[in-house]
Amino acid sequence: MTRQSNLAVGAALISAISALNLDINDPASVKNIAAQVAKGLYTYHDPSSTAGQFRQPQPWFWWESGSAWNALMDYTVYTGDATYKADLLSSLAKNVGANYDFAPAEQQNWEANDDQVYWVYNALSAMEYGFDALPCETTNAKGDDSCANSWLAIGTNAFNDFVTRWDKDSATCGGGLKWQYVETANGYYYKNSVSNGGFFQTAARLARYTGNQTFGDWATKVWDWSTSVGFVSADFHVFDGAGDEKDANCSAINKDEWSYNIATYLHGAAHMYAFTNESIWETRVQGLLKAAQGTFFGPNPNATNVMYEQKCEVSSGCNIDQTSFKASLSRWLGKTAVLVPSVKASIEPLLQASASGAALSCSGYDNSTCGVQWYTGAFDGQSDFGVELSALEAIQSLLATSAPKLAIKS
Ligand SMILES: *[C@@H]1O[C@H](CO)[C@@H](O)[C@H](O)[C@H]1NC(C)=O
Ligand SMILES: *[C@@H]1O[C@H](CO)[C@@H](O)[C@H](O)[C@H]1NC(C)=O
Ligand SMILES: *[C@@H]1O[C@H](CO)[C@@H](O)[C@H](O)[C@H]1NC(C)=O
Ligand SMILES: *[C@@H]1O[C@H](CO)[C@@H](O)[C@H](O)[C@H]1NC(C)=O
Ligand SMILES: *[C@@H]1O[C@H](CO)[C@@H](O)[C@H](O)[C@H]1NC(C)=O
Repeated sequence: MTRQSNLAVGAALISAISALNLDINDPASVKNIAAQVAKGLYTYHDPSSTAGQFRQPQPWFWWESGSAWNALMDYTVYTGDATYKADLLSSLAKNVGANYDFAPAEQQNWEANDDQVYWVYNALSAMEYGFDALPCETTNAKGDDSCANSWLAIGTNAFNDFVTRWDKDSATCGGGLKWQYVETANGYYYKNSVSNGGFFQTAARLARYTGNQTFGDWATKVWDWSTSVGFVSADFHVFDGAGDEKDANCSAINKDEWSYNIATYLHGAAHMYAFTNESIWETRVQGLLKAAQGTFFGPNPNATNVMYEQKCEVSSGCNIDQTSFKASLSRWLGKTAVLVPSVKASIEPLLQASASGAALSCSGYDNSTCGVQWYTGAFDGQSDFGVELSALEAIQSLLATSAPKLAIKS
């Protein structure tokens, strides 16, 4: 079919053409392309799915639905398009659980700390955006008026869960959360970056928003432990984790590097910088950014600023979990540029090249389905829920620095 006849036959095909032509300097173009990709992501939506209302393999990808809702919350705020807002609020209400901490009964026995925190990020973002309140769809365990549970209360409840678990888990490795908080779960004897970085980020975001030093002290404590145990290296690389069974005591670090791990710490450090205005946090942000740039950008020498998941992407070996990790790095690079002005100029070219590459990849099947290998400038044939999610965040994060400022508690 020729381009001319495409233009004649309808909006869907015109979109497929425009998806190849993202104008990174034109907010209207960015919004238009983000809308196309959001629509692609939403083809996975299924309100009857117990995996967080997106269709994907059960049960361990429930966390990824939390990440997708966070992307759609960002989308709603960045673009002003409220298409997904009602479903978003309804899904958050259904998954928040009776204790208002995103540990719902439905996910018990397989929910790990990192699964929970990816839903908690929705509460933290909603708090920072001044987003609509949670509807009263669930019944509070205590029989309270469930509407009294604010986003801040949900974030604080989760923070308190993490504090309790940290204290319980600290017999090994001198501290640190385990990956799993349920003793019978596979993975209980592993402490990892995405969980501890998630606690760090949660504490840092609560500190910046509330100004309450208790949260800041915990963020510092989790950061210091993460560096002392070697999850965050002296040159700011972030490694996956370490076992703590018997006398392993986190001595053998699994040095796999995944983009969402470093992104998690980067965004926490950015909030700590915004909270404290201390140069030590700015230095950490700069160090993490440099490590991320050196690790997760540019296998193609012609596209050195394009993000890629270096462990699995070149071999087309990323699973649905792993294809979504670039969503976290994109999202939190965009927000870090807002919170730490000194790194904005370094982040912009990374986001621009990645968004351009992502948009070019969204040319699959004549319906703008996105691909994984953004550095190829074309659809590479792999499509799934995580792929669409990453492309959406890469593209819409171009709008982060022009979005309304993140709120501070009044
Ligand atoms: C695009 O086309 C593919 C292949 O036919 C299909 O599997 C997918 O669901 C379509 N996506 C959208 C957003 O329509
Ligand atoms: C376990 O690691 C922590 C932190 O590195 C250290 O303080 C502690 O002494 C270690 N315990 C054992 C038994 O080696
Ligand atoms: C700060 O936060 C902690 C943890 O939630 C809480 O116990 C404490 O009361 C708060 N302090 C103030 C002054 O609000
Ligand atoms: C933050 O620190 C910089 C220099 O270190 C200073 O110029 C600025 O006024 C400080 N801002 C706040 C809000 O304290
Ligand atoms: C980089 O660009 C050059 C010149 O256009 C081209 O010959 C080469 O194949 C490109 N390399 C890759 C990996 O795309």
